[in-house]
Parts: sequence; C-alpha cells; structure tokens
Amino acid sequence: MKSLSHITESFTESVIREMTRSCDAAGGYNLSQGFPDFECPDELKEAAIRAIRDGRNQYPVTFGEPELRAAVCAKAARYNGLVADPGTDVTVTCGATEAMIATMKALINPGDEIVVFEPFYENYGPDAILSGATPRFVPLRGPDWSFDGDQLAAAFGPRTKAIVVNTPNNPTGKVFTRQELDQIAQLCLKWDAVAVTDEIYEHILYDGARHVSMATLPGMADRTVTINSISKSYSVTGWRVGWAIAARRLTERIRKVHDFLTVGAPTPFQHAAVVALGFPDAYYEALCRRYAEARTFLIDVLERAGFRCAAPRGAYYVMADYGALAERLGASDDTSFSRRLIETTRVATVPGSSFYSRAGNRTGQVRFCFCKRWETLRAVRDSFRERLLPGGE
Ligand SMILES: Cc1ncc(COP(=O)(O)O)c(C=O)c1O
Repeated sequence: MKSLSHITESFTESVIREMTRSCDAAGGYNLSQGFPDFECPDELKEAAIRAIRDGRNQYPVTFGEPELRAAVCAKAARYNGLVADPGTDVTVTCGATEAMIATMKALINPGDEIVVFEPFYENYGPDAILSGATPRFVPLRGPDWSFDGDQLAAAFGPRTKAIVVNTPNNPTGKVFTRQELDQIAQLCLKWDAVAVTDEIYEHILYDGARHVSMATLPGMADRTVTINSISKSYSVTGWRVGWAIAARRLTERIRKVHDFLTVGAPTPFQHAAVVALGFPDAYYEALCRRYAEARTFLIDVLERAGFRCAAPRGAYYVMADYGALAERLGASDDTSFSRRLIETTRVATVPGSSFYSRAGNRTGQVRFCFCKRWETLRAVRDSFRERLLPGGE
C-alpha cells in the first residue's frame, strides 16, 4: 500500500489521552484533562432539550445560527468592548478547536511563519503542521511566565503571517497584561501580521487579574481573530460550539474553510449557547469564586505533598515542579513521573513536555487541572497524604 500522509506521521497520540486511559483503568482521579467532572447549569440542559423538541435538528446556517451570532456580538461588546457585526464578522465553529484550524487554513501560505509562545496548548503544534506554517517559538519563563521583548521581536520577520496568543493561558495560568499585548500589537503592525487570540478562559481570573482582548487595542480590530467557545465558561466541553470573530475580509475566508471542514456546529447546542451567553455577571462571579477556592485547595495539597508551584492568575491549571519527589517515585523525566504518579497515587497529570516543541521530557514539571468536584479534589488530597508523604501526615 502507498504510504499515508507524511505530515500526520509526526503526530503522536496526545499524552493526555494516554493518561486518561491509565487513570480510567486504575479507577483514579483525572487531573490531566481540562474538563469539569461536575454538571453544567440545569438551565442550559433545559435549553438544549427545548431546542431539540422545537425541531432545531437539521443543518444550521453554516457559519452560525443568526440568534447565536447576535448573542456572540452582544456579549463581546459587553464583556470585551469589542465591536463586531453578526452578519459579516462571526463564524460559529465546532469549538475553539475548529475555529483555530479554520483560521490557520484561511491565513497560511507555504513558507509562512507563525509565532507561538512556549509552553503552548497542545493543539497549536499540529494546527501549524496541518496548515503548513512554520512555528517560531518564544519562551515564557516561570515562575511568572514573562517573555523577553527582544526574543519576541526577533521571532517576527517578513515571513510572519500570524502570532497565536492564548490568554488566560493554558498550561501556565498567565494572563497577558495590556502592556504585553501592546508590545505584541506593535510587532503585528510593524510586520503586517495577524493576531489569533484564544480567549477561551476569559472568565476564569484570580487575584484581580483583568482580561484584555487584543482586538480592542489601537489598530488591531482589523488584524485580530478572536477565538472563543462555550466549553469552559459554561462547563459544556462536549457540546462543541465555538466561534471566531474577525473583520469581514478575514471572516469570509474562515467561513469558507469552516464550511468544508464541518458544515456547521450542532444546531440545538447553538440555540442553548444563546441562553448561556445571556447569563448575568453573577454567574461568572460564582464561577470564579468556585475555581479560586479549588485553586487554593489544590495548591495547598500539592505543596504539602512536596511539589512547588506558583499560583496561576487565570484558567484552571497549575504547573508544578516535582523535583523533590522524583527520586522517591523513581522517575527519570516528566513522562515517567506522570506514569509513576498514577501507579502510586491513582492521580493523573500531564507531563510538562507535552506543552513544548522540544523539551525532551525534562521540564521537571507536570500540569494539574482543578476544574473538578470537591469530592475528586479531596480524594486527591487523601491519596497524596497516604501514598506520597512518608508515614502519612
Ligand atoms: C487554550 C485552549 N484552547 C482551546 C481548547 C479547546 O476548546 P474547545 O473545547 O472549544 O474546542 C482548550 C481545551 O482545553 C484549551 O485549553
């Protein structure tokens, strides 16, 4: 048989999936995959059921049901201060995941480069490969995950087509400041590049951190693709509804790619998403409070168990140094540490190297996520107490 596609040869199975499988087999606690193990609001379930009963069961308008596009623009105006026309500037997609690949496919020509901060959300690597872009990585350095302005400037050049910015950030919890976004914007303007911003955690913020949308910076409205979805803000990662907001010239291309990739996002869930986007501020305040408490709880558990970690300013992940525990668990690198941790404590994590292009499994870090029920988080605490601390606590 002739060989299959060369580009997909380099794709490895996501380590998160391997960890999830081992975790399920061990009946363990999955702090690897970023999905809530608690229920979404009842109101949303009712809205989805109502949409199905009301006969919203056929193909949607390919680039998004009009009610949802209107709701996306109204919410972006209210929360982000972003002006967008539902008729020309929005594409509803199957999650932020599809919004990102559709955007890349719409932008990239052979030889184009994209700038990506590293560590990065796992999908951006394959997205670059599938779209034919050459990624130029710029390091974010812990514990505050800042970047060096000179290194960023050096990553831009005449071939730069776009930069991907994920704020609040997975896996680091970094929330890019207005000043940092401004530095990035200046480079986009200088090199005629597009900013593709993944703002899926925009509502999950701590310690007074503020979310700033790149598209609202001077000169950036026409050259930013703002990506978002209902997955994280409303705890419905399985519904697969997201969107890209961009100026008409960009949206026309994104819509074409989207049409051929997936035709449309699930119709009934688009209608339920309209209800989600209408939630009052109190909903988001409660969400933040809930996650802030989980963050404090998990960091305490981790530090008592011997990890070292800096508190994230947004999203629901903690990157933790496991150095003090490596010998005890007989781990030689971050992947073997994650495997040994599941075997020893039944707690699943993600090796830090999953978020780097070439870390060789030696980041010395693993990522924990805390969008989990109290019951799960307490079980993790008890397991660490029993199995990681010498003689228990
Ligand atoms: C930064 C980031 N972007 C996108 C996604 C996927 O979003 P969606 O479920 O909307 O496809 C995730 C999921 O973990 C994520 O962390």
